[in-house]
Amino acid sequence: MRIVIASDHAGLQLKKEVAEGLAALGHAVEDLGTHDNASVDYPDFASEVARRVAGGGAEIGVLVCGTGIGMSIVANKHRGVRAALCTTEFEARMARAHNDANVLCMGERVVGPGLGRAIAEAFVGTQFEGGRHERRVKKIADVESER
Ligand code: RB5
Repeated sequence: MRIVIASDHAGLQLKKEVAEGLAALGHAVEDLGTHDNASVDYPDFASEVARRVAGGGAEIGVLVCGTGIGMSIVANKHRGVRAALCTTEFEARMARAHNDANVLCMGERVVGPGLGRAIAEAFVGTQFEGGRHERRVKKIADVESER
């Protein structure tokens, strides 16, 4: 799968862990930054990833900041993006299976490196179930077109 990943300074270490884990599974992982500990603004990185996913340049996006909250707020402002803030593998599987989420958000100050990797692997490894969920996801797009 083509995956784009990004973080701010507060999510840098977890992002590296997750990128390594997903690449080791054979995914094409592109890191859009940030690349060092200098303080940056999470909306810039959330929007980079959201634009790539919404534009079809990647199937899945992963965003990490301190809590994951700022990243998820910004990513969900982008049309076509369904970003899910996950703290458990169960949430990650459900976000894909029921909500067809295409961006995973996590907080480095919330989940440890082992759990973060497991959440990302569960997210990427789960397919959308379709069926009754298709209609509901379509209604999300309908809300976007009200704007
Ligand atoms: C940075 O200090 C922090 O505010 C940011 O990483 C994130 O947690 C925002 O939602």
